[in-house]
Amino acid sequence: MKPLREHTGAAASLGCIRRAFPAGDEPRAAYWGFLEAVMSDRWTPDSWRAKPIQQVPDYPDAEALASVERQLASFPPLVFAGEARRLKRELAKVANGEAFLLQGGDCAESFAEHSADNIRDFFRVFLQMAVVLTYAGASPVVKVGRIAGQFAKPRSAPMEKVGDVELPSYRGDIVNDIEFTAASRIPDPRRQLEAYRQSAATLNLLRAFANGGYASLGNAHQWMLGFIKDSPQSGRYQALADRITEALDFMRAIGIDPETHPEMRSTEFFTSHEALLLGFEQALTRVDSTSGDWYATSGHMIWVGDRTRQFDHAHIEYCRGVKNPLGLKCGPSLKPDDLLRLIDALNPDNEPGRLTLIGRFGADKVAGSLPALVRAVKREGRSVVWSSDPMHGNTIKAASGYKTRPFDQILSEVKDFFAVHAAEGTYAGGVHLEMTGKNVTECTGGARAISDADLKDRYHTYCDPRLNAEQAIEMAFLVAELLKQERAGRVRSVTEAAE
Ligand code: PEP
Ligand code: CO
Repeated sequence: MKPLREHTGAAASLGCIRRAFPAGDEPRAAYWGFLEAVMSDRWTPDSWRAKPIQQVPDYPDAEALASVERQLASFPPLVFAGEARRLKRELAKVANGEAFLLQGGDCAESFAEHSADNIRDFFRVFLQMAVVLTYAGASPVVKVGRIAGQFAKPRSAPMEKVGDVELPSYRGDIVNDIEFTAASRIPDPRRQLEAYRQSAATLNLLRAFANGGYASLGNAHQWMLGFIKDSPQSGRYQALADRITEALDFMRAIGIDPETHPEMRSTEFFTSHEALLLGFEQALTRVDSTSGDWYATSGHMIWVGDRTRQFDHAHIEYCRGVKNPLGLKCGPSLKPDDLLRLIDALNPDNEPGRLTLIGRFGADKVAGSLPALVRAVKREGRSVVWSSDPMHGNTIKAASGYKTRPFDQILSEVKDFFAVHAAEGTYAGGVHLEMTGKNVTECTGGARAISDADLKDRYHTYCDPRLNAEQAIEMAFLVAELLKQERAGRVRSVTEAAE
């Protein structure tokens, strides 16, 4: 059995228990606190430690891990409660059908690819996609990156076999190294400090890009990346950017310009990641001094993965207690009753914007699996954002041996997602994509028809295959079309209702 202290963990919960017991009786106080947490519903940043848990790395040195967690707990927060609340308000608009959520980024961030160029190129493509969705889709867009903290990966198998050699699986740079050697695959807690440092540096640059003028709509032409200039998407995008320039010229002529309206010079951009490595998350869980509530300060939005969403397990326990907007991945094995139970745990007050359900079924399954979930949620009157992750259910192994995702399958899942919501009278509120600003060859298809044979050219991902910059912009145009149709349908039905 683990020592009691390891179970009860953080000083935060021990603090209040200690006050209730006479000095010198700490062990008994800790024991009561532990029992109380197990037997009651009481949440503390470490109450997840008393629950069953999946996908935990096997750290060989518990003391080294505890020491890193103590250090992290003393570091400044990466994001602030007020920002997370602001994102929740924006997501509430999505839940009400008044805005669209664009969430995307790497499957796994890596230490090796941490450069200003990579971050800038990702941000440029993301801004382009958002502009496409805003203009062509005629909808406000809530922008959430899978970035500045997306390091920990769940794996379908704990071990990986290459030839005759079997080693622990790679679990993301925050845990171990991708190199296939025994030493590299040992979980090393110091990597958490590096992940914190990288997240802070990435956030710093993102904040500068978002608020320092780079994201000004007046720069929409400049966001075009050099290598896309001759692509089929570039003509479409340039035409759209021309329209924006015209609109800005008009606004300037009537006295509205970026100098007098600072909001035109900046954009709101939020961060998100899977809250998988709970020791790390706990160390960055802080009380907000204005509200007295607990927040995960590792990112604005955190989500629970499809492999760790058991309602009585650790990941749900942790997430239910922080006030950030939450995501929940919903795969084909999720039954309506289980979903309702999860919603009870994660959003008991039915707060709009608190919970985003991210469906990831696969192009062949979404039309069969999603309607029952949508109906159950609608019947029970639960407010959620419905988003589609068309990536994780469409991963295949190509004949070349590479893991890939065909562009057409990704698009097909998104189309079915919109069709299901149109049929059920609910709102298809967002997409969740794995993408990069780089010219990689990881997903097949798209306007340039990347083939299986092309995959080897620039296959750089640390985990799952991502849309490259061009495919991401192409996807944005296609989603914008679906969004426009959806909004036209809604406008019609609202008008019909009024007649
Ligand atoms: C992911 O988003 O990278 C992921 C692992 O997703 P899921 O939990 O849906 O499989
Ligand atoms: Co992934």
